[in-house]
Amino acid sequence: MSIIRLSDEDRSVQQDAVSELSEYYGALKAANKRDYTYEVLTYGCQLNEADSEKLSGTLMSIGLVPKTDDRPADVIVMNTCSVRENAEDRLFGNLGIFKSDKRVNRDMVIVVCGCMMKVQENVDRIRNSYPYVDLAFDPQQLYNFPCLLRDTIKRKKQLINIGSVDYIAEDDFYTIERQRKFRALVPIMYGCNNFCSYCIVPYARGRERSRRFDSIMDELREIASLGYKEVMLLGQNVNSYGKGNEDGKTFADIFEAACQIDGFSRVRFMSSHPKDLNNRVIDIMRDYPNAEKHLHLALQSGSDRLLKRMNRPYTSSEFFAIADRFRSEVPDASLTTDIIVGFPGETEEDFQATLDAVDHCKFDSAFTFQYSKRPGTPAATFEDQVPKDIVTERFSRLLELQNGYAFKSNQSKVGNTYEVLIEGLSKMQPGVYTGRTLSNHLVNFTIPDDVFSGTAAGDHEGRLGMVRIDSARPYSVDGVLTRFTDG
Ligand code: SAM
Ligand code: SF4
Ligand code: F3S
Repeated sequence: MSIIRLSDEDRSVQQDAVSELSEYYGALKAANKRDYTYEVLTYGCQLNEADSEKLSGTLMSIGLVPKTDDRPADVIVMNTCSVRENAEDRLFGNLGIFKSDKRVNRDMVIVVCGCMMKVQENVDRIRNSYPYVDLAFDPQQLYNFPCLLRDTIKRKKQLINIGSVDYIAEDDFYTIERQRKFRALVPIMYGCNNFCSYCIVPYARGRERSRRFDSIMDELREIASLGYKEVMLLGQNVNSYGKGNEDGKTFADIFEAACQIDGFSRVRFMSSHPKDLNNRVIDIMRDYPNAEKHLHLALQSGSDRLLKRMNRPYTSSEFFAIADRFRSEVPDASLTTDIIVGFPGETEEDFQATLDAVDHCKFDSAFTFQYSKRPGTPAATFEDQVPKDIVTERFSRLLELQNGYAFKSNQSKVGNTYEVLIEGLSKMQPGVYTGRTLSNHLVNFTIPDDVFSGTAAGDHEGRLGMVRIDSARPYSVDGVLTRFTDG
């Protein structure tokens, strides 16, 4: 499979398609005297969210507006995830809803893209059973969305475009419609070369390829000048950033340079692989006040035998050495992880090693997953798949143990005051705000009337303030905002 860097010429081809689409929707709008709307539904990880911001940016630039009421959108994009079976089920569960909508609105366009479109079975299913899906394409062709949408509308027939080339474009290739006021997502690399034996991502996202350092820096400075307080540097394995680029820049260079940009209160990154994380990154986390005091490092299993079978080239002791160093170098920080339960061949002894690893690392929180067989990955062919009832039973034991550590981590915050970046009003509790500490602890808090004085009412999304923590829950803490710190 080859990697192609897209040029200015490629961008102007897409811009021509944007102009044609703008004319098309402009004419529809004028004829029907209403706005035309779009909706992008995102499944999956933050890389997919970043892709969705680009899809939304294109749709805005052709004159569509985000859907705001119950009426189905005129262009619906489902940006899918394939990492576990339940993620795939969600797409097919939701697609049916749009069939009848499409009978009512003949101009409606239904698009399916994202990682599921790199799995042949899913593509065949769309082709054979979902004729009302107008356009399907794979994640590597995100850059080509304007041309594909234009061609779909012109030919009035299903268009399925699944390629075999891994493209890379800098972010200024796209119009980006950032979804959050407080956080800018910045992918610094695409794809994955690790081929963990259970994982679909290297097949769905292609070979690892890194953006240009200078272009990332330009984007970061621009984001800071627009007032974003937090930047999230993204990649499946950010610590291997730069391979294949000629300037010799590493992830630590980007991370440190981002921390030095005026205006960022938080510099975060996701994800790191234990085999590539180096001490300099931990030192930067320790030394820069705006470097997030949070490391997400996927353990996957505590059993060395299973780690080998998973094609994760580290042992549990090597993982502990990184975890211990991080804990001792970066005080008051949080360490979080991903763990898979029920990987093929997992014995009670292997599982016990995972529980022991959790006891050793005392993760502040963890994403725990039941192993999901992904067709096309090596582990899907392993014969010793673990029976469902055993997986479920182990999963609940792991959850119980890990929840205890998460609760303890939250309890350790009670009585202290932390600066919180406000994410907005809570969807669950009226009048309550949510935000995160620099260590990524989730905080729910109220704002007393006297603290409001002199500030405009609103959701305060993107503002910073000191919150006194009064109590802890298993997954969050509760507190009161004592003052805003950003004027
Ligand atoms: N690149 C990241 C890393 O290695 O840390 C992981 C990204 S992956 C999208 C997120 C998590 O999904 C993985 O860390 C793993 O725990 C989980 N995962 C991936 N494939 C899985 C599978 N087949 N079954 C269950 N969980 C899986
Ligand atoms: Fe998947 Fe492993 Fe790549 Fe993470 S590092 S995306 S788990 S193959
Ligand atoms: Fe899912 Fe693709 Fe991300 S499989 S987790 S959306 S890279």
